[in-house]
Amino acid sequence: MTRFDEIKKELKNTPKTWLVTGVAGFIGSNLLETLLKLDQKVVGLDNFATGHQHNLDEVKGLVNEEQWSNFQFIEGDIRDYKTCEDAVNGVEYVLHQAALGSVPRSIADPITTNSANITGFLNMLQAAKEAKVKSFTYAASSSTYGDHPALPKVEENIGNPLSPYAVTKYVNELYAGVFAKTYGFKTIGLRYFNVFGKRQDPNGAYAAVIPKWTAAMIQGEDVFINGDGETSRDFCFIENTVQMNILAATAPDEAKDKVYNVAVGDRTTLNQLYGAIQEALKECDVIVTAQPNYRDFRAGDVRHSQADVSKARDYLGYSPEYRILEGISKAMPWYKAFLSDTSSI
Ligand SMILES: NC(=O)c1ccc[n+]([C@@H]2O[C@H](COP(=O)([O-])OP(=O)(O)OC[C@H]3O[C@@H](n4cnc5c(N)ncnc54)[C@H](O)[C@@H]3O)[C@@H](O)[C@H]2O)c1
Repeated sequence: MTRFDEIKKELKNTPKTWLVTGVAGFIGSNLLETLLKLDQKVVGLDNFATGHQHNLDEVKGLVNEEQWSNFQFIEGDIRDYKTCEDAVNGVEYVLHQAALGSVPRSIADPITTNSANITGFLNMLQAAKEAKVKSFTYAASSSTYGDHPALPKVEENIGNPLSPYAVTKYVNELYAGVFAKTYGFKTIGLRYFNVFGKRQDPNGAYAAVIPKWTAAMIQGEDVFINGDGETSRDFCFIENTVQMNILAATAPDEAKDKVYNVAVGDRTTLNQLYGAIQEALKECDVIVTAQPNYRDFRAGDVRHSQADVSKARDYLGYSPEYRILEGISKAMPWYKAFLSDTSSI
């Protein structure tokens, strides 16, 4: 039995109260789904900046009535301290996901990204510390590796940030470290590497690469590859990310006041990704014959990314259950169904 199996069993037997910020978003709504299915009580906070009511509605349809009655939603903004204070009231475990993602968004509007990702983060951290929650786990980012050339990425070796977004996520880690030293409030940061899966938004200018390409392929639109297609990433299926959040939230003290890579340890180029999505869509009877269009590299992007996940394995018992191809084939039927429901586009 893995540590994850043991924890799930324990949680089922003794339900806890969780706060998931960013609960209407991609990762937040997947955390919500897993926690409710484990009969946990969940408070969710979101201001719908990039999240959607339809994500919450979908989770409602996937759990039973009793499980859904364990969910309390607060529509609010983490930039407001009082909102954060109210949200953490009575909560044991905090999974802080709310932030404005996307490197290009942060380049277009660094001020708004800064306020959500730094002021909002600090509000949540302070409110959680004051409420004496049992644990505080937050979404950090692989963008913190910046221009450091080494592969695979090891938590202790980071370079200079390449975008305003990367600065905000690094500042989160700095604040977390200072809160441990100054107040003894020890947290865990999860450096996510290109998470993907159901409910990741395919729409809008700042959609991530997998949902954006999938939607374009399903809808018969052009797919654009930034650069020569040899840019590579360690794509991480959502279920692995959910596992890491639950392992981190319930981690022993010696695993706290640390950051961990959340990925698989693989490296896939954009050209390979294009082929993988095309293949998986074929299994869903979507035939894509169009070739990708190559255009300029994108500002602020890291060229290659691949994680060393041994720290997460050693301290938290992390064992990624899905590699990229399994994840892609699980995600594609969801996108096909979602995009054929025109009301959700
Ligand atoms: N998806 C990835 O590959 C990835 C990679 C690295 C880090 N992350 C981080 O993971 C977290 C979740 O990302 P996601 O992919 O689910 O994105 P998402 O945009 O789907 O979810 C973010 C959620 O936070 C909410 N939010 C934003 N600003 C808020 C505010 N001021 N107050 C309250 N709620 C607010 C949004 O409405 C949204 O529901 C973010 O912190 C993101 O930076 C994601």
